[in-house]
Formats: sequence, structure tokens, C-alpha cells
Amino acid sequence: MSIEWDSEGRVLHLRNGQISYLLRVQEDGSLGHLYFGPALAADRSYAHLSGGEFRGFGNRLGEPGRLEYPVAGGGDYRVPALVVEHPDGSTALRLEYAGHEITRGKPDVPGLPATYVESDDEADTVTVVLRDEVSGVEAHLAYTIFAAEAAIARSVRIVNGGDGIVRIGTAMSAALDLPDTDWVMDQLSGTWARERHVVSRALVPGRQSISSRRGSSGHEHNPFLLLRRATTTEEHGEAIGFSLVYSGNFLAEAEVDPFGSARVRIGIDPEEFRWTLEPGAEFAAPEVVLVYSDAGLGALSDTYHRLYRERLARGPWRDRPRPVLLNSWEGAYFDFDEERLVRMAASAADVGIELFVLDDGWFGHRDADTSSLGDWFADRRKLPNGIDGLARRVQAAGVRFGLWIEPEMVSRDSELFRAHPDWAVGVPGRPRTEGRNQYVLDMSRPDVVEHLDAVLSQVLAGASVTYVKWDMNRVITEPYSLALPPERQGEFFHRYILGVYELHRRLTARFPEILFESCAGGGGRFDPGMLAFAPQAWTSDDTDAAERLRIQWGTSMAYPLSAIAAHVAAVPNHQVGRITPLATRAAVAFFGVFGYELDPTALPDAEREEVRGQVAFYLAHRELFQRGRFVRLVGPFDGDGNETAWAVVSADRRSAVVGHYRVLNRPSPGPTRLRLRGLDPDATYDVSTWPAAEDTVARLNAGRRGGDELMSAGLVLDATRAEVAARGDFEARLFVLEAGSAE
Ligand code: DGJ
Repeated sequence: MSIEWDSEGRVLHLRNGQISYLLRVQEDGSLGHLYFGPALAADRSYAHLSGGEFRGFGNRLGEPGRLEYPVAGGGDYRVPALVVEHPDGSTALRLEYAGHEITRGKPDVPGLPATYVESDDEADTVTVVLRDEVSGVEAHLAYTIFAAEAAIARSVRIVNGGDGIVRIGTAMSAALDLPDTDWVMDQLSGTWARERHVVSRALVPGRQSISSRRGSSGHEHNPFLLLRRATTTEEHGEAIGFSLVYSGNFLAEAEVDPFGSARVRIGIDPEEFRWTLEPGAEFAAPEVVLVYSDAGLGALSDTYHRLYRERLARGPWRDRPRPVLLNSWEGAYFDFDEERLVRMAASAADVGIELFVLDDGWFGHRDADTSSLGDWFADRRKLPNGIDGLARRVQAAGVRFGLWIEPEMVSRDSELFRAHPDWAVGVPGRPRTEGRNQYVLDMSRPDVVEHLDAVLSQVLAGASVTYVKWDMNRVITEPYSLALPPERQGEFFHRYILGVYELHRRLTARFPEILFESCAGGGGRFDPGMLAFAPQAWTSDDTDAAERLRIQWGTSMAYPLSAIAAHVAAVPNHQVGRITPLATRAAVAFFGVFGYELDPTALPDAEREEVRGQVAFYLAHRELFQRGRFVRLVGPFDGDGNETAWAVVSADRRSAVVGHYRVLNRPSPGPTRLRLRGLDPDATYDVSTWPAAEDTVARLNAGRRGGDELMSAGLVLDATRAEVAARGDFEARLFVLEAGSAE
């Protein structure tokens, strides 16, 4: 890995064994973008890639060139990365190169979560300073290239180096000008209970975007998009990923211009954003992680998975096996007392579950979602011995104890709201919109963060809590902070998220041994910003196995299995009323951080034994399921979506578990094969199926098979007519592959 400066051509070349990223200071001082793609040779001149003519600053109006951090007001009419309003109300900017610095390692992004390195030889960084001579406004563009990953982390600091107050209207984290428009854009979209479905569209002239203005990254769109060629598959072809390490409002947009180039920009959504910069002050925009792959979507996801699992997640839980848990929510909702919880915990312990999580309903007088958020003290009617007393009994029953909180919220019916109505987000003189009967606390206020830090620390220090689920169940309306002056109200949303990060930072620092899981009404804030504090996230409130195939597939585009919490719930499913086999529910939930979301004391004996077997199976393969390489094989968004298949493969390719799922059973299926990927072609694998069966599939696949055969010919999915007639809908089967000693 290296960053070279070609002083003659004025080209910066960031390079590792896999990728190159090339920037050029153009004749007029603007910073042009030359290239992002497979690694190019070192020590060569690439200045000519700017094109035959100088095109910076749009002085060939209507035909601007490829710019690294484009601005408005200078003749480039495509979407800008930076818009600043000067004291005289003008917005023109002319950013010229003012120098650069190459450093080893990777600096932090001030105040914001970001990827990191553990030693300086893991990455190199160049920071390029661009300056507007008239106003003194500077953009400090940081680019980190990792030694071992096809990834560039970019971030930006806007510095007011002038003597007037300026207002930032747009400060994107990155723009990328691509030399052609022949791309399909994939986004992860949906809503509550069907988050992160893969949606694709070919780029067309004009702007195409996804965004959030809800105060959180949201259920609707994930702060991630990728561009791929129409021919790109899981294993072949080009793709570029854009992933924003941020949990608030965002915009990710591609614009195709009439001259055959495409600009992607990603960052905080400018719509509800305005930031005042005093002379000498600076603003840090969140990090974006760009990943390039010429080996398909699978390789692109591999890169994000490794980076986010190993160099975004922090703390002791980054590398620890995550416990199998039972969450009380769907099993008990608000209807519990200490005795019931202890019975559930004991029952969980008996089947091998390791952690019992008490979800919503333990505080204030919360018997429904109408009260008590903000009152973080145990409801003694339900828990006469408090959280501590309950935690002790749960531990005595043989499982660890975890607790749900929703720090950012307050109920109208709460002591906290009665004492501090001004802490709830809202505009004086206007009604506040309630969502799930609750208001949002103004996390932009340091006194609110301070208060939450104090009360939550008391709760967590007062009992043996080993896990926290941090929920967030409504979006922000009527954005306004009583603590900000009128001219700074445009800062509210970003300051809110900075407050959330600050509280996370304090609690994770004070309680490093606690495993944090993030949640926002299911997967409404499943983003890299949250993963920097909580290494796993509740993926969706939809626990139905068939729905989860699409949700988990889509989530895996950018996020590792170690982040994807997945639980087995009771049937009929509480979100869709669907009845799926217990084995299928587990076979889907195994691919992630596994757990249960039901009342185990209500399980019939036969199901209880089945659950015991599931937990044992997961624990036996936990390392694989949580840290193995996830390989997508057959997609739920392809064809009629009836079949899905995926696998996890160990780093040494000696073990794998393959999952195959059929939503609806169909009569007279043809003989089918499932070709695998990612195995060692020279290894021989013992193949067995789970759950144990004695049908044709189990019989035909059992035994020793070469990795070459499994990848080229595949597993055999044939069934007899009688077997098809008996199997019903929602069938799942796992194939367990263990390589024997070399032959
Ligand atoms: C929404 C979460 O996604 C659920 O898992 C549960 O924690 C509820 N909130 C509790 O109110």
C-alpha cells in the first residue's frame, strides 16, 4: 500500500494490491478525479486521464470535468458536494489546491464514529486542503487506503479560515465523478418490518436518490448504495459501494449528466441542514467507505463485512462469541412479573440459551406503550426486588441477564416529562406530534445527555447487566431545540445524532463489558454509525422466516453476520400470522446472531427438545455463523423469489453450512442442483444435512464430496413425488460440510 505524489503531473496515487484511486491538481488549481478501480502500476504518470482539455471550474460551461469535491456557483451545474453562504449572502466558491499531507495510519473523524486501524501499517492517509481565496473557506479532504482491503475511507472537514461567519448548506462526505453512466444502482429500501429489500434501477439522465429526513437513518432507506454493471453477478463483474458511517439524516444520490458521466454524492441530507461556522471553526462531515470490486457483489460484501466486523466495531465484544439469547418481548410483551421472568429464564437455561433479555415494560408504571419512558427505575409492582434482585435470580437460574432501554424517548405520562417538558423536541406554540404515544428527547442538549448518562449508569451499575438493547421507536417531527438560537436550528438534526453518539461513547466506555445491541423499531437505524458502538443490531421486528429471507439477504449486502441479530419466534407469527416449521425458523435465524423471542415455558415437550437441539447445533457452529464468510447463492429477489440459498464458509474453507429455503412448495419440481461457491476445490468434505432426515436429498448428498464437485456440479435437491407431496410450504434444509484430512 502506498500514496504517491507525482509532483510533475500533480497526481496523487493511492494504491494497494487491489485498487488504485487517483486525484489530480488541475491547471487552474481545482482537484480533479481521475480514477477509482483495479490497481494501476506505481511510478507512472496518469495526468493525461484528466482528458484532452482542461475542464475544471466549468469555464467550459455545460461541459465540466470530473471533480473531486464539486461546489456550486462556479459553472458546474451538477449536484454539488459543498454549498456555503458567505456573509454577503452569496454562495459562489472556488476551491483550489492549497497543499496535502501524507500520513501513516488513519486519523479519527472528530466527534463521529469511523473505521480505524490498530497499527499504522494497516493504512495510509492523505489529507488534501482546498481553499477558497476570497472567503478563506477550506475543505480538508481525508482519504485513507487500507493495506488489505479494496476500500477507501473518505471524510471531510470544512474550516472557516476567513474572518466572516459563513453558513454551510451542503457538506457531503464524498462525491465521485465516474467516466461513464452504464451502471445499475442498488439500494436497500423498505419500511417497518420489511427493511433493506434490494431495489435496483438502471441510471438514467437526471438525479436518482435515496434519503432520510426522519432524524435517523430510517427503515425506508439504508445509508448505502452500490453501482454495478448490468452484467455483474455475485461472483463476477464490477461494483462500487458507498456506505455512510452515520445514523441521522442522509442523502445518497447519483446524477447522470448529458455528457456521459455520472456523479455520486453521499452525506448528510442538505434539506434540513444548515451549519453556522464562526471564523476559525470547523465542521466534520461523517465518513463514507467506498469499496470497489471487480469480482462481483460477493467480494464487495466481503470487504464491508471484514471492515465493519473488525475495524468499525470496537471494544471487547468485537471479537467475542455473541451469546444465544432469549428476548422477552414477543413472549411476554408488558405482561410479566418477577416470577414469570424467572420461569422464562430458567426454561431458557434448561435448553442451553445463555442470556435472558428483559425487554420493554420494566420501568415506571409501564403496562402499555402509553407511559413511563424516561423513568428509568424498576416498576416495583412487577419487580419487587428491582432489577438487581431479578438479575440475581436470572443468573441463579443459569443464564446471564440483559436489559432493554430506550434512552432517547420520553412519554407524556412520565416523571421526566413533568419535570422537564422543555427537554422534549418540539416547536414552542405548535402541537407536538406523538408517535407510539411518545416524544423524542432533545439529544442535542448537553444537559439531556448528562442526565441520561447519570440515570442509565445508575441502572447498569446497580445490577449485573451484561447486555443492553438500546431501542429507538419513533422518528423526529417538529425539529427544534430550545437550547439553540434561531439561526442555528438547522444544526438540530446533526447535533441530535452527535448527542446520541456522545451518550453511547460514555456508556460503552464506562461499561466495556456490556454487549450493546442497537434497535430502532426493528431495523430502523441499522447503520455503520451505530455499529461503531453496538456491534450487533436487531435486524427487523419481522420475525417471520419467509420475510426474514429477504431482510437478511438485503442486510448482508453491506453488513456482516456478526451484526445481524436474528431470532426464532412463535407461530402464528406476530407480524404476518404465518405458520412456518420451527426448524425453518431456526434455519433462517442461524445465519446471524441467534436467539429466541417467545415464551419457552409455553413450548410443548417435543418443540422444547427441538429447541434444545437447535441451540446445541448453533453453539457447535457459532464461530462459523458469526464470523464465517457469507456467500449468497440463490437470491430471494431473483425470479419469483421462491427459493433462497446461502452459505457460511470458514476462513480456512474447511467447514461450511449451506442453507436452502423454499417458500412455497410446488408440484412436479424438476431435478435441481445447488452449486456452491467459496469452498476449497481440492478438499474433500463430509456432507450431512440438518435437521436429520432420511429422504432422497439426505441420501443423495450424504458422504464425502469433493469441493470441486460441490462447486461445479452442486448439491442434489431431487425429491420423489411422495416426498414433494409431504413436504408442505416453508421448507428449509441445511447442509453441513466438514473437510476431512487431506487425501
Ligand atoms: C421495538 C423493538 O424492535 C422490539 O424488539 C421491542 O423491543 C419493542 N420495540 C419494545 O417496545
